Amino acid sequence: MNHFGYKQDQLFCEETSVEEVARAVGTPFYLYSCRTLQHHFRVFDSAFAEVPHITCFAVKANSNTAILRLFVREGGGMDLVSGGELYRALKAGVDPAKVVYSGVGKRDDEIDYALQTGILMFNVESEQELERINARAQRLGIRAGVGLRVNPDVDPQTHPHISTGLRENKFGIDGEGSLAAYRRAAGMKHLDVKGVSCHIGSQVTKISPFIDALARLKELVRQLRSGGIAIRYLDLGGGLGITYNQETPPPPADYARAIIGAAREMECTFIFEPGRVIVGNAGILVSRVLYTKENGGKKFIIVDAGMNDLIRPSLYGSFQHIQPVTRRERAEITADVVGPICESGDFLAKGRTIPAVVRDDLLAVMSAGAYGFSMSSNYNSRPRVPEVLVRDDGFTVIRKRESYDDLIHGEEIPDFLQR
Ligand code: LLP
Repeated sequence: MNHFGYKQDQLFCEETSVEEVARAVGTPFYLYSCRTLQHHFRVFDSAFAEVPHITCFAVKANSNTAILRLFVREGGGMDLVSGGELYRALKAGVDPAKVVYSGVGKRDDEIDYALQTGILMFNVESEQELERINARAQRLGIRAGVGLRVNPDVDPQTHPHISTGLRENKFGIDGEGSLAAYRRAAGMKHLDVKGVSCHIGSQVTKISPFIDALARLKELVRQLRSGGIAIRYLDLGGGLGITYNQETPPPPADYARAIIGAAREMECTFIFEPGRVIVGNAGILVSRVLYTKENGGKKFIIVDAGMNDLIRPSLYGSFQHIQPVTRRERAEITADVVGPICESGDFLAKGRTIPAVVRDDLLAVMSAGAYGFSMSSNYNSRPRVPEVLVRDDGFTVIRKRESYDDLIHGEEIPDFLQR
């Protein structure tokens, strides 16, 4: 369920006309629905009400501090992968006791920052990282909460670039080596070994990989406990998929139902790290048609948003619905929807059948709330676009459009080039 729909052929986000926002802020821009974000968070979180748990929103999916604040208000924690994400999460007011820190490449300064903040735990991805965290915690005279991210070697059956729980992926510690790693961790004075974690991949549209992963972790937790390591947290990661096109991912309630029996017996606090399932369908990218043309019998719709604004189609060949902001009686055409970037890979859709458009029409790229703005860049020196949050019949610009000055912020021409 989301709050994007037509009223008299005009696309609305909640009670706000998308065209009106376009008039006020210009194009392109990201538009998020507050009610949808809230609804998705609540649906996910309440699905697991029967077991102690923390819903730690995966900040990488959408890092805007206003959005993070919204989840803080809902009682959410955060899943981070960098010092920058920790900074954002703290700015948004997160309770550090609800923060987990994942990622294969944590630097010392990032580890120190998280230690000083007092986060719940690091999801540690290598034995060397265990040693680093132990050393940094010793230096600060504290104990670090840790869990190991184990690689359960299950196939999430998703795009290879976003599957992470297979043995050959760079993530986590090999399932077989994890017992030994836990034993070492338990012997390190400045570590408090609290948890076990995994994350099998993203845009997962079946329940079975999650069930398999939990079964493997459950066995590991049993072994660890019998060896005297008191595991109190079980982090199942994120990864639940959404409908971009024809996918039929399980709703959070089905996911919960499938694992809750096993979960209850474990007497752990569960941690979930959902990103896409909460924000994906709560945001759109709105763009204006600049030109239309035909090359070698192929039709092109050239819009003012490009791969720097939304890279998912170019990077993963992913499908995002594209709809007119104003519905009109027009014959359908099949065209590539492309951006202004100087790369052939700059497209939002290929061979897409949509109602014909003309210059100045507005198009909405749907399901762009996750890994949209957060993966955007300044490539081709394009200022990053604004982000707008709608609530009922009002909206707030929660990130301004960048200016040309923003583009060169921090750059310096050295003395020897001044003359
Ligand atoms: N936890 C960890 C440790 C992760 O690595 C990820 C995503 C998540 C949670 C959140 O996963 P989600 O619930 O959003 O699936 N840029 C790609 C997705 C990359 C996901 C990376 N890790 C895309 O646009 O499809």
